[in-house]
Amino acid sequence: MKIIEVKDYQEMSQKAAEYMIEKILQNPNIKLGLATGGTPVGTYQNLIADHRNNGTSYSGVTTFNLDEYIGLSGNNKNSYRYFMNEQLFNHIDINMKNTHIPQGDASDIEAECHRYEELLAKHHGVDLQILGIGQNGHIGFNEPGSSFESQTHVVDLTPSTIKANARFFNNMEEVPTKAITMGIATIMKSKEILLLVSGEKKNEAMHQLINGPVSENFPASVLKKHQCVTIIADKAVVAGLKVHSS
Ligand code: GLP
Repeated sequence: MKIIEVKDYQEMSQKAAEYMIEKILQNPNIKLGLATGGTPVGTYQNLIADHRNNGTSYSGVTTFNLDEYIGLSGNNKNSYRYFMNEQLFNHIDINMKNTHIPQGDASDIEAECHRYEELLAKHHGVDLQILGIGQNGHIGFNEPGSSFESQTHVVDLTPSTIKANARFFNNMEEVPTKAITMGIATIMKSKEILLLVSGEKKNEAMHQLINGPVSENFPASVLKKHQCVTIIADKAVVAGLKVHSS
């Protein structure tokens, strides 16, 4: 895993966007794996600015998001579909038909998981997957204990994840407790992975990732087994690493 250290969230967002834009220019038909959460928002803002200023086109790009809350329709402001439309898709020239996110309000959730996995297979997988990391080491919504062999599946969110995500909702009762997520094996099939980590809250997770064992108890640790992972981490995170290992 290659680590690029940056000053702060802003620089991380800029560097991540530059990284993605270079790949899009190299391959205008690239298949991007996208993430939600607070971490990639700045990256998406940089992509939008670049699209406006430099005309980078997404007309040939296909996207697959990692996950979606179960029970929320795409019109719900807290759904990841809504988030992606607002934060990125509505502001670039991507064909909405080429933007894929699991359907959280599908009548048959198991069938939806299967459909999503098949769709990824049909497209021969993701070329570049953007990832954030949960404080407990989750990637997508693969919580600690998730099998490294898992494909797109239903998860029960842990209390700590529900609490961390509550900031986007009006009250705790509204926060979904289940989600559909690409599995660990699905994520690992991506040809390349870009992990973004920013802020002191992620110190412990980053420390575990770098210094801990590869274990299903810490889902992100699987990334050590991937051929091509780049981590862009800010000073607050990297400083934490030094404190932990001293
Ligand atoms: C959610 C998402 C993850 C994301 C994580 C971290 O749980 N499902 O994909 O990485 O939150 O969120 P944040 O970037 O806001 O710290």
